[in-house]
Amino acid sequence: MKLDVLLGLQWGDEGKGKIVDLLSKEYDVIARFQGGPNAGHSLEFNNIKQVLHTIPSGIFHPNTKNIVGNGMVFDPVIFKNEVQELENKLPEIKEKLLISQKAHLILPSHRILDSAAEAAKGKTKIGSTLKGIGPTYMDKTGRNGLRIGDIFSENFKNKYKTLKEKHKQILALYNYDYDIEQYEKEWFAGIEKMKEFDIIQGEYYINEALQNNKKVLAEGAQGTLLDIDYGSYPFVTSSNTIAPGASSGLGVAPNNTGEVFGIFKAYCTRVGSGPFPTELTGEKGEKLQKEGNEYGATTGRARRCGWLDLVALKYAIMLNGVTKLIMTKADVFDAMDKINVATKYTYKGRNITELPFDINTDLEPVYETFEGWETPTSNLKNYADLPENFKTYIRFIENELQVPVYIISLGPDRNQTIIKE
Ligand code: GDP
Ligand code: IMO
Ligand code: MG
Repeated sequence: MKLDVLLGLQWGDEGKGKIVDLLSKEYDVIARFQGGPNAGHSLEFNNIKQVLHTIPSGIFHPNTKNIVGNGMVFDPVIFKNEVQELENKLPEIKEKLLISQKAHLILPSHRILDSAAEAAKGKTKIGSTLKGIGPTYMDKTGRNGLRIGDIFSENFKNKYKTLKEKHKQILALYNYDYDIEQYEKEWFAGIEKMKEFDIIQGEYYINEALQNNKKVLAEGAQGTLLDIDYGSYPFVTSSNTIAPGASSGLGVAPNNTGEVFGIFKAYCTRVGSGPFPTELTGEKGEKLQKEGNEYGATTGRARRCGWLDLVALKYAIMLNGVTKLIMTKADVFDAMDKINVATKYTYKGRNITELPFDINTDLEPVYETFEGWETPTSNLKNYADLPENFKTYIRFIENELQVPVYIISLGPDRNQTIIKE
């Protein structure tokens, strides 16, 4: 089999958790390939609501193995808390969750460095989730990092100390007050918790699964516009969130990729700083925020909201080789009379249909306006039953993007979903 990939096409929070949970019944293995606990993936079914940060979103399916992939960064404290929260609902969690040796450890001092660096940036801060993601990936590429496999090494504590000392020297430059003791204790307790799980060579495990005709789905975190290379740099995360990141993060050759599911909201949201061409400020933005319940699953911060941006979406589809689209949250438009979609920008006095190098400068979106459907859709189960104006909206998007919409999500619950084929 080939590796299927599901990833976000916008600035994260597109609904990846809900859809991976839904699709996991068709897969033998779900694997996260990048990012860490900056992610917050929400699942809802049978009156259970769960937000996952480190653990893949296939964990609730009885027959699916879930893998923390090599490309991830991993905080033992957050992991331990997440496992403890799940243990009641999922007593068999230890058989279902596997951790890759080559994923990098987020140290307590990485978190402090993240906070210190953001504080030093002042107004130009990235709006990081402050989970230590950036500093951990910096140590990875700087070849200083500690990996999960290192926890079994005899001199692990020394390696830990050496890296912590390096961090203390950097922190001295920031002149930043911190208290590491309590978090450090919890961190070592988290390391012990990890040892209760199978710690594996993820790349062998996944390639063998594929060779044995098992179905494997790679679960993205964040979104394409937060990619370290192609996102709205420097307001990005520190990993490759795009499809090639699944290949490198799991150790699966690029020619062994199958479907690429690209997920997008029917509008756009962004949490944290950085450019957002179609952002709605004031009342209109607040309305979307309220109707869409747009508050961060990891930080609780209000998400900035705006209209769907097809220029950015086309860029994301190109970068990822998307084969099937998944649209979420169009139900948030149920009470709206008009819906806008940006199809191009005006930039320096002319129309453009590509994202320029510097999207920090003023881009003026040009919108097509659609009539709303002004009727509830959350309980609809068949494509045929959708209001005509809704179908017009979908057809327009498919025609512009030249990729079919495969799933339409109309609410947070697993059941509030239409498969369109
Ligand atoms: P993720 O990070 O991509 O997994 O997305 P989040 O979980 O951070 O944010 C998506 C939010 O929208 C969560 O609160 C979901 O429960 C909710 N959600 C997902 N799909 C839909 C949908 O189709 N309609 C509505 N109204 N909410 C949805
Ligand atoms: P999921 O997987 C939305 C944003 C942060 C910040 C920038 C850098 O739930 O879609 P970082 O902590 O990585 O240094 O933050 O990226 N960000 C996300 N925004 N969803 C996420 O994950 C995000 N993970 C990071 O808000 O702007
Ligand atoms: Mg999220």
